[in-house]
Amino acid sequence: MRYGISGLREERNQSLDKWYPFLHKRDLVISKPMHCGTRGGGILIYLTLTGWGVGMIQSFGGAAALVSALQHDAPVLALRRHILVQRARETVRSFPGDVLYAVKCNAHPAVLQALYEGGVRQFDTASIAEIRLVRELLPEARCHFMHPVKSRAAISEAYYEHGVRRFVVDHVSELEKLFAICEGGFDLEVFVRLAVCGEGAVLSLEGKFGASRDEALTLLRRVRATARSCGMTFHVGSQALSPVAFVNAIRQAADIAARAGGLDHLDVGGGFPARYVGDEPDFSLFVEAIEVALAETGLECSLQCEPGRMLVADGASVFARVEMRRGRSLFINDGVYGNLAELKWVGPQFPMRLVRPAHEPRRGAASFDLFGPTCDSIDSMPGPHWLPEDIVEGDWIEVGMMGAYSNSLGTDFNGMGRALQVFLEDEAWYNLPMPATDDIVEQVRVA
Ligand SMILES: Cc1ncc(COP(=O)(O)O)c(C=O)c1O
Repeated sequence: MRYGISGLREERNQSLDKWYPFLHKRDLVISKPMHCGTRGGGILIYLTLTGWGVGMIQSFGGAAALVSALQHDAPVLALRRHILVQRARETVRSFPGDVLYAVKCNAHPAVLQALYEGGVRQFDTASIAEIRLVRELLPEARCHFMHPVKSRAAISEAYYEHGVRRFVVDHVSELEKLFAICEGGFDLEVFVRLAVCGEGAVLSLEGKFGASRDEALTLLRRVRATARSCGMTFHVGSQALSPVAFVNAIRQAADIAARAGGLDHLDVGGGFPARYVGDEPDFSLFVEAIEVALAETGLECSLQCEPGRMLVADGASVFARVEMRRGRSLFINDGVYGNLAELKWVGPQFPMRLVRPAHEPRRGAASFDLFGPTCDSIDSMPGPHWLPEDIVEGDWIEVGMMGAYSNSLGTDFNGMGRALQVFLEDEAWYNLPMPATDDIVEQVRVA
């Protein structure tokens, strides 16, 4: 059985009660539909990456209210929309250039709308489906096609139907393809993606994309000779923990630009870290490093960045229920093939708390390994994940900081279906210096 708004799309003749048996419970904060217009008492017509859907997103005042209302087997993706708006505002205010959002990080329509409300007007789109989604949802926004390798059909639709003019290349054959499809390329803004070092990033992106110094120089000269403007871009790796990585990459780009005769735009990519543990460098330090590098190299051009993770990570939590405990192993109803892939690939650094809708004695914290719901051994998220020692079947775990690369990586593998999606209106406990506790919610922060 599939739950959530995509489930409703597929079974639109079923009664809402089947999908949301808790819909009329008195103790819930009543639904506040947030996007794409509403039809009939909170039912939403909305667009996703895979097409139009019909659904309803409920809103809850906090984790306890949410968990006491849950009556089914699906995990929950809980978006804190107000945080997304705030994060967008802060980022746009503090970056000395244009802020593009990397849509792949989380393409949920409510996420895109919240960021737009917070002032993000341009989007790093890396597929034609992402471009269609942004254009439909936010017609005033600008899309840039920042994937270095694109199909001819995708380039053509982006250029002719959606007015996209800013494209990325990292190889001469892609540049020739682009120019051939876009009437010679005279009105294009073409960015050359440079290969840079991913050292210091939790997730290195080295090896797949990026031109070498000599290749970049050749490409840049060719772009300068033909296109309306030329730019350079790079990605220092995701969850990059060192601002120095940006300094080094800017120095490389400036050196190539000087040899090529100049640059119109510099895109310093994404990679800025989210605050999973709390000691990650603040965005302001990256901005400072970028400004110092620009001053040092004398590079004069327009500036843009394209963060994903940093903009949206703290805008959502995932709620997963414990289905079985075996010693220090917890088998939960979400995992690597659902919303929790990053618990494996980024590692056990996400803040977690136990949400138990009953008053029970607490004990101390202990470290656990987590296992997802599929009948497959890759679906494991090794610890230490710190949770109350007395955690049992039926308890819910709220995994905080799950706005980035969560639902966007989800699959239907093994028939587990997708998560229910809701809004939470509370402040995020993982953003507070001292997480609050109350009678219902017991929480332990990762040490
Ligand atoms: C071209 C490009 N830009 C931006 C991003 C966003 O990166 P992050 O989420 O690390 O900020 C990605 C992620 O893979 C990317 O490929």
